[in-house]
Amino acid sequence: MKGTIATGLLAAAGVPLLSSCSGVKRSDLPASEEPAGGIDDESARILWYASLAPSGHNSQPWLIKVAGKGEWIIGGDPRRRIPAVDPDNRELLLSIGAFAENLSIAASVAGYDAAMEVIAKSAQDEEVIRVTLKKANPGTYPLERLTLRRTVKNGFLSREIGKEDVKVLSEPHAGKLFYYPRGTDHARCIQEGTVESYRVQTYRDEAQRELANWIRFSNEDARKHRDGLTTEGMEITGFSGWFVRQFMDQGDVAGERFRKQGIDMAAKWAAEGAGWMIITSGGSGAADLIETGRRFERTALLARERNIALHPMTQVLEEEKGRREIASNHGTDVIPQFVLRVGYLDKYPTPVSLRRTAASFVRA
Ligand SMILES: Cc1cc2nc3c(=O)[nH]c(=O)nc-3n(C[C@H](O)[C@H](O)[C@H](O)COP(=O)(O)O)c2cc1C
Repeated sequence: MKGTIATGLLAAAGVPLLSSCSGVKRSDLPASEEPAGGIDDESARILWYASLAPSGHNSQPWLIKVAGKGEWIIGGDPRRRIPAVDPDNRELLLSIGAFAENLSIAASVAGYDAAMEVIAKSAQDEEVIRVTLKKANPGTYPLERLTLRRTVKNGFLSREIGKEDVKVLSEPHAGKLFYYPRGTDHARCIQEGTVESYRVQTYRDEAQRELANWIRFSNEDARKHRDGLTTEGMEITGFSGWFVRQFMDQGDVAGERFRKQGIDMAAKWAAEGAGWMIITSGGSGAADLIETGRRFERTALLARERNIALHPMTQVLEEEKGRREIASNHGTDVIPQFVLRVGYLDKYPTPVSLRRTAASFVRA
């Protein structure tokens, strides 16, 4: 109904249908049009770079409290939790870790050393990291790496990741990144486990309802929220994207057709690419998760430079069945935190996922 009305209105207004053929992309929205309360333009700029970090469902769970001049508390926003798939805030803290890494890079280029202390004692604590900015010599990290990184899902080539590239991507991890090339037993096992966990999750209504809440079905919703999963971010483009934006809404996510298509898509993705990378952590505490999120982001930024796509497929870590399977095949010292499909690309696409303005996540 909603779609029919929208299409009718477009036709009546004489707007060519093609104009709605593209979903809202990052470049369609101004980076930051409002000043953020309690911080200067330079700080707002650092925080905007930080916010280009990846996050589960693009929930952007960060919240900044200004504690004094050059002193911030990075917190987890309780309204941005995704408890049906992340009840323990594992992914929330990994995402905040990625945010912290970007923040540290952007601060260093602006001439600050961002000292970070993890203050969260448990993964449920809302205050996570205390950041203190101290003047330092400006760093030379190319900031466009932050603006050009994105999650890619399609177009993975099957060529094995070269030894030199594996070495470079492993550098931030000190033995905690593992690459399993396509065709190996381990890669097949991860592929099967991923698709099976995706299937299990797809039929868990609570998880499906939560996902529906983070999908921005219309361009209007996408512009309003500037977060979540847009058609462009999900790589549903062209006519298919237009169809979703015009004719689908949250109610469809519970339907059999949507569930089946999702599973088929996951199986197709999981079969493509150069295999899998697993990033593990030394422990499961808040500080371990922050540190792992930071390492992941460093690798994602390096991967972009090498035309390598990384696609987190997290369901196997979110579903009990997947976690049991992993535990039965590994010792307790193996704590996987990221399951990443990996592959070279012919051309690394432009980032499209939306971001909120710094003003919306900074509290003076
Ligand atoms: C902890 C974490 C878990 C994620 N899990 C998934 C996943 O299971 N499937 C997926 O397609 N993307 C996953 N992503 C990628 C996010 O959806 C993506 O970062 C977000 O939509 C923003 O898009 P961008 O990375 O292109 O900026 C995950 C990202 C993080 C940080």
